[in-house]
Amino acid sequence: MRTLSGIQPSGSIHLGNYFGAIEQFLNFQKKGAELFIFVADLHALTTIRNAEKLRQNIFEVAATFVAFGLTGEKTILYRQSDVPEILELNWILSCVAPMGLLERAVSFKDKVTKGIEANVGLFNYPVLQSADILAMQPDKIPVGKDQKQHLEITRDLAEKFNLIFDGNLKLPEPEIPKTTAIVPGTDGEKMSKSYGNTIEIFAEENVLKKQVMRIVTDSTPKGEPLDYSKCNVFALFKLLANEKETHNLAEKYRNGDIGYGDAKKLLLEKILEKFDDARRKFAELRRNPDKVEKILEKGGAKAREEARKNLEVIREKVGLK
Ligand code: ADP
Ligand code: TRP
Repeated sequence: MRTLSGIQPSGSIHLGNYFGAIEQFLNFQKKGAELFIFVADLHALTTIRNAEKLRQNIFEVAATFVAFGLTGEKTILYRQSDVPEILELNWILSCVAPMGLLERAVSFKDKVTKGIEANVGLFNYPVLQSADILAMQPDKIPVGKDQKQHLEITRDLAEKFNLIFDGNLKLPEPEIPKTTAIVPGTDGEKMSKSYGNTIEIFAEENVLKKQVMRIVTDSTPKGEPLDYSKCNVFALFKLLANEKETHNLAEKYRNGDIGYGDAKKLLLEKILEKFDDARRKFAELRRNPDKVEKILEKGGAKAREEARKNLEVIREKVGLK
């Protein structure tokens, strides 16, 4: 089975990325699946206008993958822009993509509502994403729930292509985890790099602490019972802790034995504990960026070989050969 997914280098990696995406990649790797995991640098160009910043972010996302151990035998790590065939397929797919389909894309509308410039690249985002996927012909796409619609668009475009050109593009299945489909940010909305509400896994400890302390709670004073079902601190703690720890914290909330400040401290401890190993590896990779670069180059060559093979068939189907 082939699995594929990407993360945009548009900011630092956060808890939402981990629980929505990276944890699933690791599970697939453990199960022995073939994994295509990439840094979606071309996608990040839709919003980033600073070359140094983009380079820095690309390194960070790639180093994240390596620090978490996504380096198994059957795992191919690469940079999207190292596979130019994706851009060729992007064009071919954009010629079968109905405007109306893209106009309905919620993620585009959300981003524009949040003040991000509505450039053509941003509008075309789901088509490029479809090209990332269809160029490699994977079976499964592990992502967070926010990507559900993009994957429906991918399937629509693949079907359309197959119908028009008598093609045989494989329709990929989304793989969306139930419990961590949408990880809340510090403001209670979906945690996202674009919304400034993230808790960054590799931030310095003092920055991480500030981010955790920023989580919005209600104003129930310490000593009174708290409603854990509506608390963002609790929701995040639950993702990191085991059942017993979660149960204990719920008891404390119910009995009024804990205030939000102390709950946040417990959450911070859990984050540091859970990601201790990855944080250490990430720091080491910062000192040895060449190590990451080598992995990306090797992966890029493999990914390109696969895309070349698939594009040859696609070109023939549309009459470019
Ligand atoms: P961001 O929204 O921060 O820019 P990306 O769009 O690069 O993150 O997402 C990379 C992966 O992480 C995708 O699979 C996405 O679904 C997942 N993801 C991002 N934010 C969350 C979240 N808050 N909850 C669950 N999954 C998420
Ligand atoms: N759009 C995805 C996101 O913002 C990132 C992405 C780009 C992706 N290409 C992809 C995810 C292909 C899965 C498959 O999260």
